[in-house]
Amino acid sequence: MINKPISGFSKLSKGKKLRWIVDNFFKDPEGVAKELMSYWLLDEEKQQLLDRFSENTISNFHLPYGVAPNFLINGKSYCIPMVIEESSVVAAASNAAKYWHERGGFHAEILCTEKIGQIHFTWPGEIHQLQNCMSELRSQMLEATRDITRNMEERGGGIKDIELTDISDQTPQTYQIQVSFDTVDSMGANFINSVMEAFSKVLTDFVASRTEFKPHQHDLDIIMAILSNYTPKCLVRAWVECPVSELGSFRDFTAERLAQRFEKAVKIAKVDPYRATTHNKGIFNGIDAVVIATANDFRAVEANGHAYAAKDGQYRGLTDCEISNGIFRFWIEIPLSIGTVGGLTSLHPMARHSLELLGNPDAEELMKIIAVMGLAQNFAALRSLITTGIQKGHMKMHLHNVLASLNATEQEVAQTVNYFADQVVSYAAVRDFLLKLRSSQAKLPLS
Ligand code: MEV
Repeated sequence: MINKPISGFSKLSKGKKLRWIVDNFFKDPEGVAKELMSYWLLDEEKQQLLDRFSENTISNFHLPYGVAPNFLINGKSYCIPMVIEESSVVAAASNAAKYWHERGGFHAEILCTEKIGQIHFTWPGEIHQLQNCMSELRSQMLEATRDITRNMEERGGGIKDIELTDISDQTPQTYQIQVSFDTVDSMGANFINSVMEAFSKVLTDFVASRTEFKPHQHDLDIIMAILSNYTPKCLVRAWVECPVSELGSFRDFTAERLAQRFEKAVKIAKVDPYRATTHNKGIFNGIDAVVIATANDFRAVEANGHAYAAKDGQYRGLTDCEISNGIFRFWIEIPLSIGTVGGLTSLHPMARHSLELLGNPDAEELMKIIAVMGLAQNFAALRSLITTGIQKGHMKMHLHNVLASLNATEQEVAQTVNYFADQVVSYAAVRDFLLKLRSSQAKLPLS
């Protein structure tokens, strides 16, 4: 391990960066270098494209790209791409898709699509002094950003509102300019940030030039200008429903009992933050997988969803369930700020293919698809949890990872999978079985 900081690292070639890393941090520099380089793409152009997405890249980190077919959403069939490293998630989504396909499919609607940008600033004055000149400030802001907004307006979006808010009761002399946007099919982060920075300059100059303000009030201090990833007014709702009797029985559970236990599980996540966190984690298993497959910003989507889950001051599950007049209804309402144009969505070749696989949806359609995936994932998780428990299914899927880590041959995999069809899977049990298998085969007479 080295303690001295390295300078000029970012300017080194990729090969030299890799050399410096392996020589200084690994016991087997040659072996690790070879391994890291084995993940470089053979197509140099494609590799350079990937490298340009980030900085100081020395290799690629692969994740499985799977698909979940049979999703029926508002009467249209989808095969949904999912990038996720956790076993069972794609299988669970596919099962839920098939299950609901036979019961009318999923439904989804957009409730609103507003995005938010903010300027946070301090100013030694009273809110009403600024409020008095807001309409003039608004026009100057809009005028100064015509060049930035023209394109977006041509696509049907743009700036929708500019408001002044006061948070000086919580932190002294602090105010905000809050701007709402419609960014149409783009997530709009760059667009919003550019507008907010341009607005900041207008705000500073505007205050400095106002003769009605006292001299010490001519200095307004912009603390920061940035979009908000919390978009509670960019909302989508997805739901499933069917008569309770059509839920079907599962193992020893009648349809009625299933529905009641399901409703109870959803209720528990509504009232207990410990359960809500796991409940929502499962929802994001599905959501993130589609968000990543379409090269959207999964950190933004997660932050947004979790903030929304705590919107009334307590963190709660994001789904709801109701049984009324013999009808079972299960739904999710979630803010999703995503795009189908701009950012990496059109630059990343795999994202382009994901979007094509989905029929090149616009942002609203993709919001619906992603919300449905979150709902499907939660449905599958709860159905397992309230019946068999999830470990059985999980460990069956995990069996293949264990076998891979033990370098099992194809024949050993087949024999082990067969044996564990009705056995409890654990790492130790699989290892012991494999050891026994190998030693018994070693004893086989040579034919
Ligand atoms: C595991 O990744 C996700 C679950 O824990 C979600 C849940 O408990 O609802 C199965």
